[in-house]
Amino acid sequence: MTLSVARSVAELRRHVAAWRSRGESVGLVPTMGALHAGHLALVAAAQAQCRRVVVSIFVNPKQFGPREDFSAYPRPESADLDTLTGASADLAFIPTVEEMYPAGFATTLSVGGPSEGLCGAHRPGHFDGVATVVSKLLIQAAPDAAYFGEKDYQQLMVVRRMVHDLDLPVAIVGVPTVREPDGLALSSRNRFIAVADRGKAARLFATLEAAARRLADGAAADAILDDARAALTCEGFAVDYVALVDGPTLVPLAAARPLARLIAAARLGSVRLLDNVAV
Ligand code: PAJ
Repeated sequence: MTLSVARSVAELRRHVAAWRSRGESVGLVPTMGALHAGHLALVAAAQAQCRRVVVSIFVNPKQFGPREDFSAYPRPESADLDTLTGASADLAFIPTVEEMYPAGFATTLSVGGPSEGLCGAHRPGHFDGVATVVSKLLIQAAPDAAYFGEKDYQQLMVVRRMVHDLDLPVAIVGVPTVREPDGLALSSRNRFIAVADRGKAARLFATLEAAARRLADGAAADAILDDARAALTCEGFAVDYVALVDGPTLVPLAAARPLARLIAAARLGSVRLLDNVAV
């Protein structure tokens, strides 16, 4: 089986239409490239449920803030194509910025609810950019299902909310976080972690796990969350947030209850790490 590459929406739609005419199901895995085993877990989940799998690779300028790393974001296209060939994906959709946002583009999709707070508060406009590009990708590829990692838990909940609110006919499937042996969640940005910080990076997950164990029996969250923030600060992290929230809505909780999620963002040098665990 060979990997096809589509660079325009028209080409993407031609591939999907040909599959549809044969009655084949289609899964979509949206990514920004620099593919790693976390992305490949989404591809494998898609392949388990869908006959054809499209992986989009698009570094979406609309979800980066003015002082964020849009231009520095890694774009190893030929390595990514090799990775997708090895994973037996059917199609890589790699549009240019001009293809996705032609001159005059003027539409922004803004999801409230789960996009407020947490990363939404620290990265203004970020989830508008995510919602805008994901809605376009879902409309362009018209898949039966689309696959998102639990690693970006808030993003997954924002996408679920958007798809529900807009009656988009697609199943949104969440895939568990893939980690390094020491617990660090895989991320395209991990390559920017300073060698001297790499050992510390795994403390984010370890700290969340320890706090989750303390929270699991229903203890009051405030002191436990303060301890987790202090532990991370002590390790050298600049903590954006550590929060106990209701999983689906991301509303803060005073104590754990079913579906509670412990979620954090913290910076190590210039690298912002995200993680979350079930409680
Ligand atoms: P990106 O960071 O490339 O991630 C693409 C998908 O892979 C997301 O759904 C993300 O949650 C998932 N993912 C990343 N690391 C993972 C890990 N360690 N384990 C499991 N899944 C992981 O997220 C984006 O791109 C963009 O915001 C996008 C949705 C493509 C919209 O531009």
